[in-house]
Amino acid sequence: MDRFVIRGGVPLAGTVSVSGSKNSMLALMAASLLSEEPVLLQNAARVHDVSTMIRILGALGVEAVWEADDVLRLGGSEPTATEAPYELVRTMRASFMVLGPLLARCGHARVSLPGGCAIGARPVDQHLKGLEALGAKVELVGGYVEARASRLRGAPVVFDTSTVNGTQNVLMAACLAEGQTRIQNAALEPEVGELIGVLQAMGARIEGAGTDQLTVEGVTRLKGATHRVAGDRIEAGTLLAAAAITGGDVTVTGLCLDQLASVVEKLREIGLELDTRPDRVRVRRAGPLRGVRVTTARFPGFPTDMQAQIMALLCLAPGSSVLTETIFENRFMHVSELQRMGADITVNGRTAIIQGVAGLSGAPVMATDLRASASLLLAGLAARGDTHVMRVYHIDRGYDRIEQKLASLGARIRRIRD
Ligand code: EPU
Repeated sequence: MDRFVIRGGVPLAGTVSVSGSKNSMLALMAASLLSEEPVLLQNAARVHDVSTMIRILGALGVEAVWEADDVLRLGGSEPTATEAPYELVRTMRASFMVLGPLLARCGHARVSLPGGCAIGARPVDQHLKGLEALGAKVELVGGYVEARASRLRGAPVVFDTSTVNGTQNVLMAACLAEGQTRIQNAALEPEVGELIGVLQAMGARIEGAGTDQLTVEGVTRLKGATHRVAGDRIEAGTLLAAAAITGGDVTVTGLCLDQLASVVEKLREIGLELDTRPDRVRVRRAGPLRGVRVTTARFPGFPTDMQAQIMALLCLAPGSSVLTETIFENRFMHVSELQRMGADITVNGRTAIIQGVAGLSGAPVMATDLRASASLLLAGLAARGDTHVMRVYHIDRGYDRIEQKLASLGARIRRIRD
């Protein structure tokens, strides 16, 4: 298992570009199952979750080929199997998103129930509720969800809770259903909007993009598409936080500012100076940092996927900060590791109280999930001495060669292959 060794204390400087959005890609890869023509993704990220989705598509008999370092060609054939196996699905919950497209295209899908997850229970009841509303007969057999429908029928779908992948799953299925589907309480996250754009390019008839009410008129077939994946908003936020925590001066390019407003505003509130353009942000320390209040929320609120990284930064902000996680019930796994580096954090239920300390010190720390790992990386960049971040595979799931990007900004970071 690889680990990162980071010698902290270097203010990062320079310009760095983000890769394509991991979470957009995972949905778009599932969407490729809807068409017999290929879907070409440009600006595609080389992250482990994408490799997992390639393997899942492979298990379904659909080819995914890297045509260039950042160009991924998907599908262009009929799925030859309709089962997504436990061995793959259990490693990545997002694989559950193949359920809707497979069912809509093949009339049958058998997808392992994802199981537990480090950041919370993460049920899939809303995915199933939506597909059942479209007429699917859904059974749970041997740990697998088995869904059948000779042709899905459009229907009203009202989500009880806003769910990103649930919205995407049901939306994809509705594109090939007969008649009209109206989805209420659809998720507003940019990855849903990006998926809608690509489905429309494939010939889907969807209205309401950017709102929580989507109307889909089903069609009988979808064509292929070529799409440039939007820059990863969470990678962008993580790199901005890396610059902020080291007192550096970094410009992050290839992002969509509209998707990052809450993060940019929070960094300003913490005391950083940010120059923004539609596709880039420069961040610098203008003066001392300040403790703030952060509450994670649905888009356009502050993203749960940036909670751990902002916590690392707040550990070094004088005064107290209050950080509340509202989306996932168990997303404070990084706290005990940050404490080992000298952070002063008290957790009470879903709220963490952080008292800023003068400095962090390097330590061996254990990555527990993707964003928790990113926060440890950030803490290591600012700490005195060496930090060893173990279980780097969590970071590799969602960050494309992050150590190379950080090193290009001056960070002293090495990957050790144990
Ligand atoms: N929920 C339900 N029932 C459902 C679905 C969700 O109760 O059927 C609950 C979840 O348990 C959670 C909340 O709704 O408490 C939100 O979950 P959501 O379904 O929106 O999350 P997701 O679609 O499974 C995506 C991202 C996550 C990101 C969340 C929230 C992908 C592949 N994953 O997950 O990304 O945190 O939306 O924005 O798109 C990450 O990249 O590190 C990551 C975890």
